[in-house]
Amino acid sequence: MANEEGDFSGIRKITEKVDGFLSEAEGRTLFGLAKECSTKGLVVEIGSWKGKSTIWLAKGSKAGKGAKVVAIDPHTGSPEHGKVNTLQEFRRNIKGAGVEAMVRPIVKTSEGAAKGFKGKIGLLFIDGNHDYEFVKNDLKLWWDKVKPGGYLCGHDYDLYDVSKAVVEFSNNKKLKPTLGGYPIDWWIVKPELPKKK
Ligand SMILES: C[S@@+](CC[C@H](N)C(=O)[O-])C[C@H]1O[C@@H](n2cnc3c(N)ncnc32)[C@H](O)[C@@H]1O
Repeated sequence: MANEEGDFSGIRKITEKVDGFLSEAEGRTLFGLAKECSTKGLVVEIGSWKGKSTIWLAKGSKAGKGAKVVAIDPHTGSPEHGKVNTLQEFRRNIKGAGVEAMVRPIVKTSEGAAKGFKGKIGLLFIDGNHDYEFVKNDLKLWWDKVKPGGYLCGHDYDLYDVSKAVVEFSNNKKLKPTLGGYPIDWWIVKPELPKKK
């Protein structure tokens, strides 16, 4: 898993002013994955909040092949956030970070956005509603849209029942995920298709 060494002082300066739930180490990991995976397809994020993780992903993609980052969030928060609307702040932060042209916001739930979604995904980052049924559904809805060899990863493995949903999904698909690791909490590489003879 990519956790790049390099000068991140510029991105640190931007992201430390953005309210969110991501550490710098996690941000660097997302940067590395987006840089690598933007050669394979779109970067898709489920759960953007005010854009902290989106900025790390977009900066990474920009350092790679410049694939668009699709940022999916209804911007009305998860149950633990109470009544919020984060859309304006999200837009302001993305613009302030200079990645507006790289980011396509979809102001819908994961379920709403998955309907009719076109495009192949190189990196899927799941950080939406962390309740079991939602994580389970995110994995189910988006799995087929990730290209073989692409990455799925997510945050807050040890919170709520995220781990239960990820372990069940991986077992059903006979996948070998990295679980509860640091700096990003879980990740799966989608197997390549067998080569045709
Ligand atoms: C923990 S926050 C995301 C934090 C963000 N990734 C960051 O690093 O700052 C969870 C986000 O998921 C969003 N959310 C809740 N339910 C969702 C759903 N069904 N589909 C997509 N996003 C959802 C919330 O609006 C909230 O902004």
